[in-house]
Amino acid sequence: MSKQVKDYSQYFVAPDLKAAKKRGKEEVQVIQFEEIPENMREVGKGKNYLIETYGCQMNVHDSETIAGILERMGYSRTEREEDADIILLNTCAIRENAEDKVFGELGRLKQLKLENPDLILGVCGCMSQEEVVVGRILKSYQHVDLIFGTHNIHRLPVLLQNALFSKEMVVEVWSKEGDIVESMPKVREDGLRAWVNIMYGCDKFCTYCIVPYTRGKERSRRPEDVLDEIRELARKGYQEVTLLGQNVNAYGKDFTDREYTFADLMDDVRKIGIPRVRFTTSHPRDFDDHLIEVLAKRGNLVEHIHLPVQSGSSEVLKLMARKYTRERYLELVSKIKKAIPDVVLTTDIIVGFPGETDEQFEETLSLVKEVEFDSAFTFIYSPREGTPAAKMKDDVPMEVKKERLARLNQLQNEISRRKNEELRGQVVEVLVEGESKKNPNVLSGRTRTNKLVNFVGPKHLIGKFAYVRIDEPQTWTLKGVWVEEKPLAKVGG
Ligand code: SAH
Ligand code: SF4
Ligand code: F3S
Repeated sequence: MSKQVKDYSQYFVAPDLKAAKKRGKEEVQVIQFEEIPENMREVGKGKNYLIETYGCQMNVHDSETIAGILERMGYSRTEREEDADIILLNTCAIRENAEDKVFGELGRLKQLKLENPDLILGVCGCMSQEEVVVGRILKSYQHVDLIFGTHNIHRLPVLLQNALFSKEMVVEVWSKEGDIVESMPKVREDGLRAWVNIMYGCDKFCTYCIVPYTRGKERSRRPEDVLDEIRELARKGYQEVTLLGQNVNAYGKDFTDREYTFADLMDDVRKIGIPRVRFTTSHPRDFDDHLIEVLAKRGNLVEHIHLPVQSGSSEVLKLMARKYTRERYLELVSKIKKAIPDVVLTTDIIVGFPGETDEQFEETLSLVKEVEFDSAFTFIYSPREGTPAAKMKDDVPMEVKKERLARLNQLQNEISRRKNEELRGQVVEVLVEGESKKNPNVLSGRTRTNKLVNFVGPKHLIGKFAYVRIDEPQTWTLKGVWVEEKPLAKVGG
């Protein structure tokens, strides 16, 4: 069963970190997805695929595209790995523990591959873009059949064909981003809420972060393509879209044929008849007054902003190359709060960045107290090979990092609890997603501010908006009772 990796076929294109760092000036082309080659259209008939997705929403959405391509080739989705003819791991490289999970999973899947040698086992996503990872798979996980990256998902039919008919491991990872591919098929996870890419890549190069290397340079989709996609989703009855980009505030900065910013895009999306519009992620550096002005118009633009701060210390922010100071961040927050008084702010924070002192960590705690985020994703710094921070001297012991994380989480939990307590007795609008995962007698959904609400109500509310009175606020979720149904918003636009 072992793959012969020594004779690298024409389908061996390995990633190269140095090439991934280079940012060219060449213009990005927009191309259309090519139809599935004739001989591959029925290849999956009677066969099943399973995709395991790790990482951020970008990856979740990429998995929807991969599923779309596989279904066009005749494959059906399965959740049972014993029934799968293809298993793809769509991976995340953001922290070491994300990568460890994938290697663990690859090890575990070896047994399945032994029992079913026809199974195609593939690795894609951000880890595939890393030289070290591909090297490690070639060396120690030879039961893998296929590796492809984030830039060549549209090549899946050809790559799969080679994996099916070749005895070698098929590796095709482009280190440089390619074109923007429009009209890719998609199988969306649900019929209610949809992800919409507005841009790809990241040019911010925060010193700790691997994303600019795994996702390539910033490329914005044309506004007409984004708006058409949202209109189409509205027509199909979707109630919510989340616009995706690593740094949505940089949207449009790469256009050479027009002046059109993220604020312009939001203002245009606002006019589409889709009830809720979210976006993620917003880098504080490029968050401008025009955007605040547009968001303050509300309507379908929800009053929730995820605004990762990373640290409350200007010195640490400088080492992180975040390109804003503590003061600038706080200024931005107060401008946003003034324009949108009931805004819910959430954030990401890294503790234990190389050299972070106790005082600098205290500054993070004091910023958290001052801003009062409704919730925060908090992480211990994880060195990523090839990034500038990985070369910085890191003298903070792991014990100290863990302690800082625990203190930060405790503080944030108190604030989250307090914020949720303010909602006690209030009636909130909930988009009802379905039965709660824990209890089928309870329905669950989200507020405009993205808070999870569990409540008792009739099943016909699923897929609709409902008004729910919050009677039991908790730290991470809200419990309530249904008070009345809201008619579906007029769609179209
Ligand atoms: N583009 C987004 C973040 C994407 S990664 C932004 O800039 O806001 C999501 C979060 O992971 C980051 O906000 C950061 O808090 C965390 N993260 C990224 N690299 C990390 C690393 N090397 N170690 C620990 N956390 C990291
Ligand atoms: Fe990473 Fe910074 Fe880009 Fe976010 S903005 S993806 S943290 S480099
Ligand atoms: Fe992970 Fe890649 Fe997203 S590294 S966080 S899956 S962009």
